[in-house]
Formats: sequence, structure tokens, C-alpha cells
Amino acid sequence: MKMSVFGTGYLGATHAACMAELGHEVLGVDVDPAKLAKLEAGEVPFYEPGLEEVLRRNIDAGRLQFTSSYEEAAAFADVHFLGVGTPQKKGEYAADLRYVDAVIDTLAPLLTEPAIIFGKSTVPVGTAERLGARARELAPAGDGVEVAWNPEFLREGFAVQDTIHPDRLVLGVDRDRPGRAESVAREVYAQLLDESIPFLVTDLATAELVKASANAFLATKISFINAISEVCEAAGADVTVLADAIGHDARIGRRFLNAGVGFGGGCLPKDIRAFMARAGELGVDQALTFLREVDNINMRRRTSMVELAREACGSLLGARVAVLGAAFKPDSDDVRDSPALNVAGQIQLQGATVNIYDPKAMDNSRALFPTLTYAGSVREACEEADVILVLTEWAEFRKLQPEDLAAVVRKKVLIDGRNCLDPLVWRSAGWAYRGLGRP
Ligand code: UGA
Repeated sequence: MKMSVFGTGYLGATHAACMAELGHEVLGVDVDPAKLAKLEAGEVPFYEPGLEEVLRRNIDAGRLQFTSSYEEAAAFADVHFLGVGTPQKKGEYAADLRYVDAVIDTLAPLLTEPAIIFGKSTVPVGTAERLGARARELAPAGDGVEVAWNPEFLREGFAVQDTIHPDRLVLGVDRDRPGRAESVAREVYAQLLDESIPFLVTDLATAELVKASANAFLATKISFINAISEVCEAAGADVTVLADAIGHDARIGRRFLNAGVGFGGGCLPKDIRAFMARAGELGVDQALTFLREVDNINMRRRTSMVELAREACGSLLGARVAVLGAAFKPDSDDVRDSPALNVAGQIQLQGATVNIYDPKAMDNSRALFPTLTYAGSVREACEEADVILVLTEWAEFRKLQPEDLAAVVRKKVLIDGRNCLDPLVWRSAGWAYRGLGRP
């Protein structure tokens, strides 16, 4: 099939490349010429394992192209995916829908023939219905234009796998205007449906809420274990063993029960806030007040990490702090709302010299926090350190051994903000090891 994908960020670029991988002819559309130039040259503008190979293979096969021209995209296909960002509005909790609105406002007037727009971006409930009305009003094809919602559940670091082999597909269709959206989606995703991946067809509002609820649940699960971790610390218990034990209950499950410095990134933090804001607009803000606590618990992880660093150094003023990890999670170079970078920034503001190293997120970190000191390796970051903080659980850090660093640090003190190292190994080598929520 022929299709266009609007937006070539984490979501759009992955979707475009993966749809081409399924054999479709895809045109990726973006307003950013620098991003397009990279993609056209077969380079992914961010770090995502495996994506570059898929991108190159499909460009070479002639199935994947890029453009900045909406006219070209409107003429190219009658199936359009919308995958632009919905960041948090400055100074408020609500989502900023200007990019989503701009796609509809620019594309719809060019739709002279019947077309389907599948929204993939995470949007507040009610957005799809509003965009549908707007598209029908602006398009010469009028009621021939359908807007359906097909939320995306991919994780950064596993984006290709999650797009080609998702846990489920969800499609919200306009129940008041039955059209072709479901049958077209079945054609687009035919290979996935052949693998018996569950396909749930809902109304528009349910599809939008599925996505918001999924991220709210994941955030809640992480904050739950982090809250328990605070209790473990006070009681001298071990949250990692506790998580293993409760995780064996299939109703609970072990995944997303890793206590540490908490969740960050471009999705969970802003999505729970947008969800609260939308619930407020709908007059049901009380239903989601617990998410405020989820957010509070999460932000408290960052301040308590700063406190632990202070305790370890005596005073942060003049201390040398090594920070391992800047990305919001491993296998990503994304530093949006990254706990690691946030902690590093706070510690530096309190007078310490922070030396930071991340395998992939150095450029993005430098752009956001130019005043931190960036090291070229783990060893360099740890030189003369009074304390080492591990804040992102990259494989490179998990493999570290005490003897790798003993000779370069000033004090053998390590705080494991992701509980990803073995306390026994470090303690028996003479280090002061501190995990979060562990005795
Ligand atoms: C998240 C969801 O997991 C995806 O399903 C969703 O599609 C995506 O948001 C989105 O809305 O686009 P992602 O932001 O890539 O995906 O990251 P996650 O893997 O969910 O991790 C989020 C944060 O939680 C990271 O900072 C991670 O370190 C932290 N985390 C995760 C924990 O602190 N503990 C855990 O046990 C798991």
C-alpha cells in the first residue's frame, strides 16, 4: 500500500521505516529540513538500536522516501499517519497540540479525494473527534475524509521490535460515520494480524484513553515500587528482593518494578500530567488526583538522590561527583526529562564539579546542560571522584568491576541509582556501596 507518515521523530521515523519494512511504499513528511536530509542519507537523527538498518534497507529498496512537501504527500497516498509530538505546554500540565493541529490544517485543504488519516500521537481524549470535524470542514473531499486513532505503544530502545511485533493493535473509529478505516488498517497491518496479534477496534475516545491509561498505569507501577522503596529504606528491608517476590504473583508481574531514580523521558511524565489536565476539563479531576502523588513520588527520587550524594561527600561545595548515565534510560540518547541529567544539574548548582559520561547521550546532554563537564569515558568521569552515581543502567555500567575504578577515584563510594550493580562485589572490594531501597 502507499502511505505517508507526518512527523519523523522517534515515533514517526520508526513508523515510516517499519511500514516500509512490511512492504508498503512510504513517504515520510517533516517540516525540519535538517532531519529530512539525515533521513534521506540513511541516518537516523537519534539513537535507536536496529532502526538505521531498517531505514537504509528500505530506502535502498525504493520503498521509503522523505519530503517536506504536503502537496506531494497528499498526491502520493490516500492513507496518512500522523505521528508528530504532543509535548507538555510551557507552564501548564496540558498537552500542546499545535503540531497535531498544524498537520490537519495544512493537509486537509489538499485532500481532493477520499482519504484516511490515522492518528498515532498521544492526545487528550476528544482530540480525534475534533480533528475529524476540522478535516472534513477544510478538505475539498469533505465527508470523504476519515480520521481514526491508532495509538502507538512503542518503547524507545525497542522501537522496531515494538512496531513490527506489538503486544496489541488498537484502532479507534468514528462510530457516527462508519467508513473504511478498519478495513484499511487490517490491510496495513495484515502481516501482524496473521501473527495473531490482538486487534481491538473501539470508538475514538476509548482508543485515546487506552494510550493515556497504559502510560498512567506504567508510571503508577514505577512510583508504587519507589514508594515501597522509601519504606524499605526506613525499615532496613531490600526492595529488589521484595519486587522479585511480589512479581512472582502473575497478577502483579515483575516488569516495571525496578526501584531507582524514577521515570523520565518524553512520554510518561508529560502524559500523566496531560491526563490529569484533561480529566479536570471533563470535570472528573478527582478520579486522577492519585497521579499527582505518582508524579510527586517520582520527583522525590531525584531530590533524595541529591541528598544521598551530599551525605556521601559531607558537603557538595567543592566536591567532585562522577555521574554515569545521562539518558532517561539505557539504549536511548533521549535526555528529555531525564532523572540522570536532572540530578546532575541539581548537584552542580549546589557547588559540586560534576563529571558526566553516557555512551550515547553526550551531544543531547551538552545542548541542554552546557555547564556540566563531559568526560570521554567512564574512567575519565570517575577521576578524583568523591562519589560515583550510577543513574542510567547502560550495559557498559552494569559490567563495571570495582578494580576498573579503584585507582582513579579519590574515595571508593558508589551510589547505585538504578540498583543495577551487585552490592556484594563492590562491598567486598572495600567500596561503600549504597543502593536505593536496600539496606
Ligand atoms: C513509554 C511506554 O513504556 C511505551 O509503551 C509508550 O509507547 C511510550 O512511553 C510512549 O508513550 O511513547 P518509553 O518512554 O520509551 O516508553 O520508556 P519506558 O521504557 O516506559 O521507561 C520510562 C522511564 O521509566 C525510564 O526513565 C525508565 O528508566 C523508568 N523505569 C522503567 C523505572 O524507573 N523502573 C522500571 O521498572 C521501568
